[in-house]
Amino acid sequence: MSGVGFTRADFPENFVFGTATSAYQIEGTQFGGCGESHWDTFAATPGNVERAEDGAVACGHYNTWESDLDLIAKGGFDAYRFSMNWARVMPDGQTINPEGLDFYDRLVDGMLARGIRPYATLYHWDLPSALADKGGWRNRDVASWFADYTEATMSRIGDRVEATATINEPWCVAWLSHFIGGHAPGMRDIRAAARAMHHVLLAHGRSIEVMRGLGLSNLGIVTNLEGSQPVDDRPETIAAHQRNHALYNEWFLSGVFKGEYPKAAMEGLEPHLPQGWQDDFPTIQAKVDWLGINYYTRKRICNSGGPWPQIGEAPGPLEKTSFGWEIEPDRLRHFLTWAASEYSGDLPIYVTENGMAGHDYLLDEKCPDPQRVKYLRDHFDAAKQAIAQGVPLKGYFVWSLMDNYEWAAGYDKRFGLVHVDFDTLARTPKDSWYAMRDALTG
Ligand code: NOJ
Repeated sequence: MSGVGFTRADFPENFVFGTATSAYQIEGTQFGGCGESHWDTFAATPGNVERAEDGAVACGHYNTWESDLDLIAKGGFDAYRFSMNWARVMPDGQTINPEGLDFYDRLVDGMLARGIRPYATLYHWDLPSALADKGGWRNRDVASWFADYTEATMSRIGDRVEATATINEPWCVAWLSHFIGGHAPGMRDIRAAARAMHHVLLAHGRSIEVMRGLGLSNLGIVTNLEGSQPVDDRPETIAAHQRNHALYNEWFLSGVFKGEYPKAAMEGLEPHLPQGWQDDFPTIQAKVDWLGINYYTRKRICNSGGPWPQIGEAPGPLEKTSFGWEIEPDRLRHFLTWAASEYSGDLPIYVTENGMAGHDYLLDEKCPDPQRVKYLRDHFDAAKQAIAQGVPLKGYFVWSLMDNYEWAAGYDKRFGLVHVDFDTLARTPKDSWYAMRDALTG
């Protein structure tokens, strides 16, 4: 079968087909009075990012947003998931940059003018450096800083967005960034990580409360779920796998939906949580209206030995993307059914990100990406099966509209439906963009 293998008729009426990006990855921080974020300082520190690349120019979207929105509209998408850069809105972490808010105001109006529904994300990782210097996610005050930023941004654009997410991928914000050291601020410190794991949820809850106070609705959080598979059935392997599952997949959903943290993670984190953490659950459990799930891959987990949590990764046999990530579509179906039955119940769920990095290059002004077309076909099929099994899945956003800054991997991991030449910033729709367009407009 060619193409992505579905039509709108294969999904429920009003199912939302979208595509997604984030601010730091596409806009270019050198434009429009944007302040410095901890990603700028992290990228400028040798050894952190491939080729020391940063988001100074990225896709130059700050200047090309109109033609970029045209690509979304022409692709037949109903919705666009984008984020606001906190350091663009508040360059020093406190004072509002009117130029920054004006940009998001224009962007939202530009979507509406093209019939694209805006799905906003408040935090996709660009913490202003001034706040990082005060301890960032380790400092409890981050919840109040985030509440102020929420108020500043949403009192400006909240009246026109379709839905709003507080935090994108809290596991990356907290664990990857403070324990594994792979993302800004690049810490490897269990005490810092434990605090970030808690504060990120507290900030989420405060942000939801602020938005309710502004009379806004359709509010959610975006968690990344990653399949993990123990490499063998030795008890120490199974235990390492359980800890990975607890830290990665259960911690945030359990905090938001159950008001508790999973045992297998608490073994190591409880001694390092901030005093009085138990009292924050009423805020953390602030009612959400939907759950976003980002899904890409699975990992095979072994026991690494050494200090807690002894989580190691082993290579697997499945087909891989150019990131080396194994492709396992059925795991998406599994996570959608798991999240609904264990946590979110009847609440709407969205696949807020799914896609793959490919070795994509231009050939006669075209960009063939057959692996991505198949990846999307198989994952949309898994989503369809989840719906058939009763999951209230309401929409699906392909990551990403265009190739962009893939964080510590820099620019050579290409996730786009649209190819970007990072020398000229020229955009060329890939075959996957055409396949999606044919499915959505056919
Ligand atoms: C999830 C993140 O939200 C996004 O920023 C990133 O580019 C993709 N995963 C791919 O790694």
